Amino acid sequence: MMKSGRANFGSKLGVILASAGSAVGLGNIWRFPYETGNYGGAAFILIYLGCVLLLGLPIMLAEFIIGRRSRANTAGAYQVLAPGTHWRWVGRMGVLAGFMILSFYSVVAGWTLEYVFEALGNGFAGKTPEEYIQSFQAFSGNPWKPIIWLVLFLLGTHFIIVRGVEKGIEKSSKIMMPMLFVLILVLVGCSVSLPGAKSGIEFLLKPDFSKVDGNVFLGAMGQAFFSLSLGMGCLCTYASYFSKDTNLTRTAFSVGLIDTFIAILAGFIIFPAAFSVGIQPDAGPSLIFITLPNVFQQAFSGAPWLAYIFSVLFYVLLALAALTSTISMHEVVTAYLHEEFKISRKRAAWFVTGGCIFFGVLCSLSLGVTKGFTVFGMGMFDLFDFVTAKIILPLGGMLISIFVGWYLDKKLVWEEITNDGTLKVRLYKVILFILKYIAPIAIGIVFINELKIL
Ligand code: PFF
Repeated sequence: MMKSGRANFGSKLGVILASAGSAVGLGNIWRFPYETGNYGGAAFILIYLGCVLLLGLPIMLAEFIIGRRSRANTAGAYQVLAPGTHWRWVGRMGVLAGFMILSFYSVVAGWTLEYVFEALGNGFAGKTPEEYIQSFQAFSGNPWKPIIWLVLFLLGTHFIIVRGVEKGIEKSSKIMMPMLFVLILVLVGCSVSLPGAKSGIEFLLKPDFSKVDGNVFLGAMGQAFFSLSLGMGCLCTYASYFSKDTNLTRTAFSVGLIDTFIAILAGFIIFPAAFSVGIQPDAGPSLIFITLPNVFQQAFSGAPWLAYIFSVLFYVLLALAALTSTISMHEVVTAYLHEEFKISRKRAAWFVTGGCIFFGVLCSLSLGVTKGFTVFGMGMFDLFDFVTAKIILPLGGMLISIFVGWYLDKKLVWEEITNDGTLKVRLYKVILFILKYIAPIAIGIVFINELKIL
């Protein structure tokens, strides 16, 4: 569907699914569990939920407002709404974040492809937990294999981007998201019924606040922004394809709910299983890759064919969930180059794909061959993750909330939230209060505390 010369999403469900497709990805199933493990479990989850509710949802709505009102890419949006001001730097910073996240994210997305093939070849059967750990380490440290998968993944993303918004993004989300959801539910059932799963469930439900420090807050905040695709104009770019009658508040709630629910469910797959086979919850980025093969083998030990089918299906769906997210990041940068530099969409997309392959390769190597080479004590992979999730995204979120809360004309904000007065949004005043005061102050305090800015 084309309106005013710009592509639109075709249906209401398409709007929600495409945005949820961006939000739901490796952030929920790979990053959320390992950050929860790193930061000690239930207390982190509670703080995370607070961040989603207090910062995530209002800022998502703010991004929707900016995107739909301006109908432009994230940097162009500020030119439309605040012409001649420095606000466009918020958009540009988002584009940079999108590019950086896509680079390291594609490394992990590539790992999921390796695991699809491992599962297809029945490679998980009959291994001990130790062997899963060893084979993951051997694979991720290998100089070639992860790079080949990373390149393939980026090329897959590239071709969907070139096919355009409705045909590519919307259609794929509509099929994949519900399938992933059902499979996750089945796996939760399997995982919590493993022997010894109880301590994993306790880890998720019994908060221990003695371990909470400023670092946990920064981690939870960063994870909320990363998981909800916020702070870099991604949902702002998607909202530029929304139609006039999309209910922005309801869409933000639906996307936030789906995303959070899936992250929590992922926790209920990983931790009961990890405790059951004695894998440490703070194993880091490898956590899901060493825990999940155990779940499949142990939960279906009486029916190996079920273990086979579930493991293949799971990794295929995980790769697809990652794909709907990489598409959204790629779109942010491609739309920016295409609209701001007036180059064709196809060319813009090639620049993004090529650049991400370059930095992606460096990120991938930093986990293996170039491990000793660090900046601020971090390899390239960890550095890109840290700088984006813990600095640029929250900072972007803070500036976006200030932009909508303070800079934009209140009439415009009201028109967008209520669709020109046709919707009744009871939380309007609360949302505005959060955007004006709570979000900027809360993010500022976490920054000052943790990054030692003052
Ligand atoms: N939200 C995605 C995930 O959880 O996997 C990752 C992501 C996508 C982050 C798009 C940022 C973004 F703009």
